Amino acid sequence: MTDRGYELSAQFYDLFDRKPNINFYYFYASQAGESLDIGAGTGRIAVPLAELGCRLFCVEPSEAMRTQLEQKLEQQPSLLERINIVPTDAASFKLNKTFPLAMMSGSFRHFLTDEERLRALANISAHLKPGGTLVFDISLGMMKDTPLSPAGEVQIDGGEIRRSLSTRVLPEGVLQVTFVFETYRGGRMVERIVQGAVQGIITRQQITRLLQETGLTVVNEYADYDFRPYEEGDNILMIEACKTN
Ligand SMILES: C[S@@+](CC[C@H](N)C(=O)[O-])C[C@H]1O[C@@H](n2cnc3c(N)ncnc32)[C@H](O)[C@@H]1O
Repeated sequence: MTDRGYELSAQFYDLFDRKPNINFYYFYASQAGESLDIGAGTGRIAVPLAELGCRLFCVEPSEAMRTQLEQKLEQQPSLLERINIVPTDAASFKLNKTFPLAMMSGSFRHFLTDEERLRALANISAHLKPGGTLVFDISLGMMKDTPLSPAGEVQIDGGEIRRSLSTRVLPEGVLQVTFVFETYRGGRMVERIVQGAVQGIITRQQITRLLQETGLTVVNEYADYDFRPYEEGDNILMIEACKTN
């Protein structure tokens, strides 16, 4: 697949992406027993959930991200009983079974067009049991041009990694994001990686309509990982939808 923003930088993902949403997803996964994790990435969520006893099918198209997850499973082979890696994307995976739950943390923004969103949601819906749940998050803010600016730094053995990012809204209605990762050792920059990514731009109303078209009905909307109800204008939207037909 084309690089959606991870092929050069997957090794930095867990260092910088530390959203405190594992307990949020565990709330759902602990009741489901077996779940789909769509766009599971490095297993940042799947691995701790599997450690807590959940069983997961991790759908992940990026080879670089899957490699990070595979390395974690090599370190903890007992988790192989609970984690299955499915090396493809949300629209293409085919498992001959249905699930009570599909989770999608940080992945929905990678669907760039309504056509792509509908294909992904229809396939996910087809893999849900009647009454099953799809839960996912989407950021509705930051959809404007921003210059390259610092976006975190992390201390590592003998040095540090600094991340910067810039954004640009392209005429075709998508957000181009550029991440720059600079590694410093002894005060000197020893590596600089520039990772491009493209993300979809979408409204809450559009998402509700696309879910309805694929047999999914919104039952709850939250604005943070502590289940605070969503209010118009909030930047983070967590959606819980139920398969109704
Ligand atoms: C922001 S990361 C989230 C990873 C993980 N879920 C987490 O919360 O840490 C988004 C993930 O979605 C994956 N992705 C991109 N396009 C996708 C698609 N069409 N179907 C499924 N996953 C996709 C990316 O490869 C990446 O691993």
